Amino acid sequence: MADEVPETIYDVPTPSFLVDIDIVKRNCSRMIEQCKRYGVELRPHMKTHKTIEGGILMTGGTKRKIVVSTLAEAEFYADNGFDDILYGYPIIKEKLNRCAKLANHLDMFHLMFDNLTALEAIISSPLDPGKKWSVFLELDCGNGRSGIKWNSEEAVHLSKMAATAENIVFQGLYTHCGDSYTSYDRNEGLRQEIQENTTERLLFLKERLRKEGIQCKSCGCGSTPSCANPIDSMSSLTEFHPGNYIFYDFMQMTIGTVQEEDVGVKVATRVVSHRPDMNMMIVDAGFSAISYDGIQRMSYQPTGISLFKGHPNLRLFGMTQEHGKVQPIEGTLDFDMYPYGKLLFLIPWHSCDTAMMHPVYYVHSGDKILDIWRPCRGW
Ligand SMILES: Cc1ncc(COP(=O)(O)O)c(C=O)c1O
Repeated sequence: MADEVPETIYDVPTPSFLVDIDIVKRNCSRMIEQCKRYGVELRPHMKTHKTIEGGILMTGGTKRKIVVSTLAEAEFYADNGFDDILYGYPIIKEKLNRCAKLANHLDMFHLMFDNLTALEAIISSPLDPGKKWSVFLELDCGNGRSGIKWNSEEAVHLSKMAATAENIVFQGLYTHCGDSYTSYDRNEGLRQEIQENTTERLLFLKERLRKEGIQCKSCGCGSTPSCANPIDSMSSLTEFHPGNYIFYDFMQMTIGTVQEEDVGVKVATRVVSHRPDMNMMIVDAGFSAISYDGIQRMSYQPTGISLFKGHPNLRLFGMTQEHGKVQPIEGTLDFDMYPYGKLLFLIPWHSCDTAMMHPVYYVHSGDKILDIWRPCRGW
């Protein structure tokens, strides 16, 4: 059933994931234009959608210069004619065999590393004659995830070591400013502070390395909240690598990155049960259809962790695997308005996680389904 192309968005099986191609194309062209205006290169991240079609739109058709978060994605894009692929995830020795195949096969395949053990493993792993590893040093400029601290001596030491290793081309510095996601409730001041700090810290290390004779060809930051609304100083960087902007989601609306009309995805779901005794109905989208991500924010959002399009009084207040629990924000639920089988569309809290849960995406323009996209899965 899932592989048949339904005629309209009202005919899709539920739950299912819908992609509005007109919004998605607009989001992609805006980011391409934005990067041109700021004089930086765009290396879009594929993790949000993991599809060939989305990759083509994000690269403006070049199929060059992308970031991926898994080796399965790297292989999927390489097999489908993409090149200049950065595996933007901390590399470990145990994954280098798979990476070597990509490095030998592609014109450009880059690794990201953040520690000495990984760098030593790269240095002692041979590639085909004439081939060198290409690496980015991952920095933590305040995000608090992987990456080496931007102001540590170790960051300088690792850069020097990579830049002088015979079998390595040192590309430069990469940071994911995921801390920009903490600027909830449209806190523009906080977002700008994070953008300023990230930019300053990247440039600080770049300059320190320059003084030591090490050039960073690339010096870039990512995250959709940062790159969708950059600050002026970010034009001193060379590269942006956001990913979520292809779809956006309810979380980006909450942060203030975009408005509802820019969100290009939704989950179709149907009413399956009425519980008047609990002033509640059940829809067929549980956490296996929209994910649990954002659940910690549930109590802060009047509508719960997602938004029912066109039904602002509905609140998704709980989920089990296949059940979504829905109550009105105010008053008594009008069950006549929501009969069994009634189709509703949910804007998910986090489109990356939600997309991950669906084997196919129904791609539509207006009401009409045009295509089905098949994402890459696994690791
Ligand atoms: C390493 C890395 N780079 C870039 C991105 C893209 O950021 P965003 O999802 O905010 O667009 C991510 C997202 O998690 C990431 O982990």
